Formats: sequence, C-alpha cells, structure tokens
Amino acid sequence: MLRKMGSRNDYPLCLEIGCGAGIGAQVIAEQFGARKVIATDIDPEQLERARENLMPEFRDKIEFKREDAMALAEPDETFDAVFSFGVLHHMEDWRKAVKEISRVLKHGGEFFFEEPFRPFLKNFLVRSLTAHPEGGEFDYEEFKTELGKNNIAILNMRRIRDIAIFCVGRKR
Ligand SMILES: C[S@@+](CC[C@H](N)C(=O)[O-])C[C@H]1O[C@@H](n2cnc3c(N)ncnc32)[C@H](O)[C@@H]1O
Repeated sequence: MLRKMGSRNDYPLCLEIGCGAGIGAQVIAEQFGARKVIATDIDPEQLERARENLMPEFRDKIEFKREDAMALAEPDETFDAVFSFGVLHHMEDWRKAVKEISRVLKHGGEFFFEEPFRPFLKNFLVRSLTAHPEGGEFDYEEFKTELGKNNIAILNMRRIRDIAIFCVGRKR
C-alpha cells in the first residue's frame, strides 16, 4: 500500500529507522527498487535478530547499523527514501527524529511511514499492555505541522480516524 503511495518506482538509496527484526528492510529491498538499504535501530539485540533473519538474496543490499534516529550518523541530503514502520511513537522526542529524517533526505526524497496517534496510545487497553514514552505522542495536526516545518509536504496518505496514519511525504 505504501509503495503505491510513492511517486516513483525506484528509490536507489534507502534508510530505515527502527528496523527491529529486519523484516521491513527486506520488503524495502524487494518492493522499492532499492540498490542499497541502510537499516538502523538503537537496540543491539534487535539488530542481532535482523542479521539472523536476513535472507541470503539480500546480503549485498542491506546493511544493519546501530543508530539513534534522533541523532543519525548519516550525512545530509543522502537518501532517496526514508522509512519508519511504527517507530516514531517509541521516541523520547519524535520531533528530533523528524528533523533528522528531513536532514538526511535528498531534495525530492520521500518519507514513508506508518504511525499510531495519541488517542490510540492513550487507550486503556493499549496503556495496560504496552509502554511508550510521552515524547512519542502526537495527533494528526501536530504531525503535519512538524513535517511542514521540516520542509516535508504530504504526498499521499490513508488516515484511520484519529487512530493511525499510513503516509508518504516528499521533501521540498
Ligand atoms: C515497534 S518496533 C518496530 C520495528 C519494525 N520497524 C517493525 O515494523 O517490525 C520499534 C523499534 O524502534 C526502535 N527504536 C526505539 N527508539 C529508537 C531510536 N531512538 N532510534 C532508533 N530506533 C529506535 C526499537 O528498538 C524497535 O526496534
């Protein structure tokens, strides 16, 4: 669904933040015409799992690295696309991550993400079963405003009421 929301078929150099067990990185390599995917996570155990899960056909394409999405080690204006699959709501300060994503995107580069909104995270059941930092909470308007401040315009989105969003933004 996200692939269809993007404006191009190929994104040669891709970055994923919060790659977890590494499944998303393989989807990016397969579906987004990537020549190279840098897949990052702050948690070394997740990166270990991701390396174990990596299918042989993707070994030359995907590189796993430990990086904090709020202070990426990547150079400015480098990537054709950045991906975040359910990661920003885990941040102590999601705004720092948006700023970093914009910094490392090329002009015209695209930001693919899916995230839950604050009302979902505040839900009694979700709060009882999971732990998320308050700094990772936002609603649609806050998120859209922050993208705008960082020169990212929404290109396409599917919004599920005030629960979650699937979206592609493009850096101006
Ligand atoms: C809900 S998991 C999502 C994992 C993966 N994207 C997926 O869809 O399966 C959130 C991930 O974000 C990572 N994470 C949390 N804070 C982070 C940060 N500041 N920088 C990079 N990764 C972070 C966690 O270690 C975890 O792997």
